[in-house]
Amino acid sequence: MTLTPSPRVGVIVVAAGSGTRLGQDAPKAFVGLGGHTILRHALRGVFAAPEAQVVVVAPAGREGEALTDAREAAGSRAPLVTVVAGGATRQASVAAGLAALWPSVEVVLVHDAARALTSPEVFARVIDAVDRTGWGVVPALPVIDTIKRVEDERIIEAVDRSQLAAAQTPQGFRRDVLETAYAVASEEYTDDAALVAAAGHRVAIVEGDAHAFKITTPADLDRARAFAAPVPPVPGASPAHGLPRVGVGTDVHAFGGDGSLWLAGLEWPGEPALSGHSDGDAVAHAIVDALLSAAGLGDIGTHFGTSRPEFAGAHADAFLARTRALLGEAGWAIANVAVQLQSNRPKFAPRRAEAEAALSAALGGVPVSLAATTTDGLGFTGSGTGVQAFAVALIHRA
Ligand code: CTP
Ligand code: MG
Repeated sequence: MTLTPSPRVGVIVVAAGSGTRLGQDAPKAFVGLGGHTILRHALRGVFAAPEAQVVVVAPAGREGEALTDAREAAGSRAPLVTVVAGGATRQASVAAGLAALWPSVEVVLVHDAARALTSPEVFARVIDAVDRTGWGVVPALPVIDTIKRVEDERIIEAVDRSQLAAAQTPQGFRRDVLETAYAVASEEYTDDAALVAAAGHRVAIVEGDAHAFKITTPADLDRARAFAAPVPPVPGASPAHGLPRVGVGTDVHAFGGDGSLWLAGLEWPGEPALSGHSDGDAVAHAIVDALLSAAGLGDIGTHFGTSRPEFAGAHADAFLARTRALLGEAGWAIANVAVQLQSNRPKFAPRRAEAEAALSAALGGVPVSLAATTTDGLGFTGSGTGVQAFAVALIHRA
C-alpha cells in the first residue's frame, strides 16, 4: 500500500533564473559550488529543515537535472519532491510552484535557490512565526553599512539604518494569504513579502542568517565557495567525499539509416548507415551514458531525448561536448573513458587511432580507448543486423 504524503508545510525553491549577473555558461542553479550544484546545496538546507513538500522550480528543459539533485538531497524524503518548470520572471516561477502544492499544505515558504547556504534553523524559525502570528514572515538582518541617499554621484542625505532591515528568504506565509495575494498582483514585486504587503497583509521579520546571502555576482560565488562545506554522501547515491566514481553505458543501433555510416565520431563513406534519432553512433551514445551514470546525472534520454530537436542528426562531437559541460556544471572532471564495440563492420583497426583522437577531442582531450570485436557470427551483431557498444568512464571532482 502506498501512503500519499500529506505535509502541512510546502517549500517552493525557485531555481529557474538564468543567472545573468553571475555570467557562467549554465543557469545559476546548476553552477558548481564545492563539488555540487548551487541547487544541491540549497536543497541540503531545505531537507534538513522540518518536513515539507518541496517544489523545485527549474528552468524549462532542465527539470531532469533538478530532479536528480532533489532526489539526492532528499534521501528518504524523495516522495516529498515535486519539480516544475519556471517562468520568465521570479514572480511567474513562484506562481508555477504555488500551482503544484498539494492540498494538505497550509503554510508556504518561498526560497531562492541562489541563497544556497541558508541554514535549516531559519526555515524552522519562519514556520514557527507564521504559525504563531498568521502574518507573513521574512528573515532579515540589520544593515551594517552606513547608507546614503544619492542623486547621480552626489550624496543627498544619510539614511537612518536603525530603521532598515535586509530581507532574505525563505519567506513564509499562510497558503491562503499567499495565493490570494498572487491572484490579485498586477505588477512585478522584488520579493513575496512586498507582493503580500501590497495585497494588504501584515508581514513581520525574524532573525536572518549571515550565510543566507544571495549568490548574484562572481564575487558572491567566490565567497560561497569559501564557506561551502562538502555535501555529505547519501548512502547508495553519492560517494565518500574525494573518491572518484565509475559509470557504465551501453547502446545498440540497427543498420538501415540514411546516408553514410557515423561511428565512433567518424564518418565511414561507403559503409551502410545506422538508424536512430541522431546519427546512430552507438559508441558515442554508450560513452554519454557511462559519463552521466558516473556523475549520477540520469541517462542520455534525460538530456538528449527526442524532445530535443537540436540533437536530431547530431554527431558525436555535439553529444560529448554537451555531456562534458553537464558534468562540469555539476563539479566533475573526466579521468578516462574505455569503449568496446561489437560489430562485423567496418574494419576498425586502420582508423582506431583516428577514432580515439576524435572522441578524445570532443571530451576536451581526456584519454579514450577503443576496442572492437566481432562476435563469432552470434547474435544480432554477428548476423550484421546492428552494432552494440559498451563503455566505462572514470570521473573525479573538478
Ligand atoms: N528565479 C526564478 N525564475 C526566474 C528568475 C529568477 O526562479 N524567472 C529565481 C532564481 O533562480 C533565484 C531567485 O529567483 O534562485 C532569485 O533571483 P536572482 O538572484 O535574480 O537570480 P537570476 O534571475 O537567475 O539572476 P540574474 O538576475 O542575475 O539573471
Ligand atoms: Mg534575476
